Amino acid sequence: MFYLPLFHRLQGAACLVVGGGTTALRKLRWLLRAQARVTVVSPQISAEIRDLAAAGEVSLLEQTFSPELLDQRFVLVVSATNNPGVNKTVHDAAVRQGVLVNCVDQPELCTVIFPAIVDRLPILVAISSMGAAPTLARVVRGWIEARLSPNLGNLAVLAQRLRNRVKQTLPSTAARKTFWEQLFIGPIAEQALSGNLDKATEAAAALIEGSPVKTGQVALVGAGPGDPELITLKALRLLQMADVVLYDKLSNEKILDYARRDAECIYVGKQGPKPGMPPDRPDNRSNQQGSINELIVQHARAGKHVVRLKGGDPFIYGRGGEELEAAVAAGLDVLVVPGITAAMGAASYAGIPLTYRNLSLSVRFVTGHRVENTVNMDWPELTKPDQTLVIYMGLVGLRQIMSLLVEHGGAGERPVAIVENATYPEQRVITGTVADIADKVDAAKVQGPSVAIVGDVVNLAQPTISG
Ligand SMILES: C[S@@+](CC[C@H](N)C(=O)[O-])C[C@H]1O[C@@H](n2cnc3c(N)ncnc32)[C@H](O)[C@@H]1O
Repeated sequence: MFYLPLFHRLQGAACLVVGGGTTALRKLRWLLRAQARVTVVSPQISAEIRDLAAAGEVSLLEQTFSPELLDQRFVLVVSATNNPGVNKTVHDAAVRQGVLVNCVDQPELCTVIFPAIVDRLPILVAISSMGAAPTLARVVRGWIEARLSPNLGNLAVLAQRLRNRVKQTLPSTAARKTFWEQLFIGPIAEQALSGNLDKATEAAAALIEGSPVKTGQVALVGAGPGDPELITLKALRLLQMADVVLYDKLSNEKILDYARRDAECIYVGKQGPKPGMPPDRPDNRSNQQGSINELIVQHARAGKHVVRLKGGDPFIYGRGGEELEAAVAAGLDVLVVPGITAAMGAASYAGIPLTYRNLSLSVRFVTGHRVENTVNMDWPELTKPDQTLVIYMGLVGLRQIMSLLVEHGGAGERPVAIVENATYPEQRVITGTVADIADKVDAAKVQGPSVAIVGDVVNLAQPTISG
């Protein structure tokens, strides 16, 4: 390692930027964010830099750089020209004067380098490849950007607001450490990250004073239909914070890899033992909704961060509403994170637009789940044209559903697509019509989770890379 990452206070410090183009402007903006006093020297100066000068934010010297311009008043000089000769002259002058120097894209002429920055002020993450691969550093920045809540800075502001109070009330270092740990990973942090800084401050103040504060938290999190990349950034963050993850067979287990290694992942699938798992495992029984609700409450009451991971969206045929009611009735803090529902995942990955101008003006998500051997729906409504139906849980009753559509005046030639295992690598799309789709599905031996998309939009299907 030949660079040490340090954060340099530039507030009020004199800096020189050599160059008046786009690259100079980029560096200049960072220097201004750090509240440096910047002088730009260049025979040609862009309109944007001139605007900054007109606003009194920078000083201009419209001339070529000469070493006499650089003296020890300057803390840092940045050479942002595309002329290696000028850069070398700037570098040598800076070294003679003991001024820090950065020549853009010439690491051999730098005593300091600009990192790729993830800005969540007052939290700053700086990434460097030591000049070896700046583009890679920027790619890494993208990864980190995606991982950090846009409101992360709120946590630092919260800490700042509380610092003195914590010092006065909690004299021992150990007590302070426990307090901060509890704060940064608990529901109060979640409040701050959701933008409720004042509420979070109030709750944290109560925590300092020793008032009982609920520590457990329940998040009902949509896992999307399968492809693990379809979860939201918020879902990802909550999974990374979770102590306990309750999942069922509709959420892709690959998503569990996002959870902490020491998180307890409990299978709560309702439909019998999970394939490949010994049936006598305590987490491998046929779970009923009531016992899932109990598990959620029990773990959250024990102070754990519980993520109830749900296939698709928690509030679409997911019984998320009941879990929410149970958690709220138990007095727990709950949040619900939406997910991409199967209908949307299936349609996108199969290249079928759910609505289309002049062809399908609305879309209905309906359930084909049979109760007492029949499917109760408003059939005359469902047969109307100009709409798309997406039928969930309709595989078992598919033949009956299609007959009922025809019985109620629907067209037998209306197009239908069955999307099985939508968004998984093994996704299959079987197309047909209301009249023949059931036979086609039987012939294809469709067994995985499937939705039926019914409507003229099916004929618009286009190949996509993901499908
Ligand atoms: C109990 S519902 C859960 C729906 C889920 N909450 C959602 O928003 O997608 C289960 C039904 O969703 C549909 N489904 C879920 N995942 C699917 C997938 N990957 N491909 C196709 N259909 C899926 C199937 O119709 C399945 O029978």
